[in-house]
Amino acid sequence: MATIVGGITTSHIPAIGNAIAKGKQNDPYWKPFFDGYPPVRAWLDAVKPDVAVVVYNDHGLNFFLDQIPTFAIGAASQYSNSDEGWGLDVLPPVSGNPALSWHVIESVMADEFDVAMCQQMTIDHGVMVPMSLLWPGGGTWPLSIVPLEVNTVQHPLPSPARCYRLGKALGRAIRSYPEPLKVVVLGTGGMSHQLQGERAGFINRPFDLMFMKTIANDPDALAGYSIGDLVAAAGSEGVELIMWLVMRGALGDRVSTIHSHYHIPVSSTGAGVLVLENAA
Ligand code: DHB
Ligand code: FE
Repeated sequence: MATIVGGITTSHIPAIGNAIAKGKQNDPYWKPFFDGYPPVRAWLDAVKPDVAVVVYNDHGLNFFLDQIPTFAIGAASQYSNSDEGWGLDVLPPVSGNPALSWHVIESVMADEFDVAMCQQMTIDHGVMVPMSLLWPGGGTWPLSIVPLEVNTVQHPLPSPARCYRLGKALGRAIRSYPEPLKVVVLGTGGMSHQLQGERAGFINRPFDLMFMKTIANDPDALAGYSIGDLVAAAGSEGVELIMWLVMRGALGDRVSTIHSHYHIPVSSTGAGVLVLENAA
């Protein structure tokens, strides 16, 4: 059977993609951010996952305001990347795993999550920036992906509780897949940021640090937030933290924090990275 080797959460700020493209990892502005990632890559080198289920939010590239599903799962054999306007290099496509995708789709549907099924999906910085941080090497990706997209663009958004429960259904789906695949679950986005309106530039460091601790020990407390609570505490784009709750739901009740790193600001955002493993 497939096993979930652990979960990773990471911010996906587009400026990181440009910093990587320009080799700025050791610049004074960027070094404290990039220093958070060697331990994550060391963990990945040790556990060697075959597939990443990447929980992310599309930013108007594959889905636009005319048609937005709440949850969408990719079932393609390959995913191309494109840039929706940040000036990012277009990176090589990433392989999919359609058999695992269809198993996850069937399993979460049986669990009453009526997801959109996408046999074609173009992936944006919400996937590619984390891929470049975790598997650097200019696009020679060492594993395949199953993208799971969550709407954070057009309200009403799915509640944190619903996202956490989707994560639990995702965990059941992966663990019931008959092939002996090692699967890592990524939740991308966050942490606190607001890119628009009166509070543009808003970052809430105490909230972010609380969230990083609590997602490991008491995810039910975070699942009790409403979308309005999250916007108030983390900013209008800070709602991307619902992706972290999907990832957390896929893990077991008790987890160990293998690595945790937080740095502000990166562009307009509090940048956090976590590696969680199921507790023995
Ligand atoms: C920024 C952060 C994001 O999550 C995003 O999707 C776009 C921009 C930023 O901080 O610049
Ligand atoms: Fe984003």
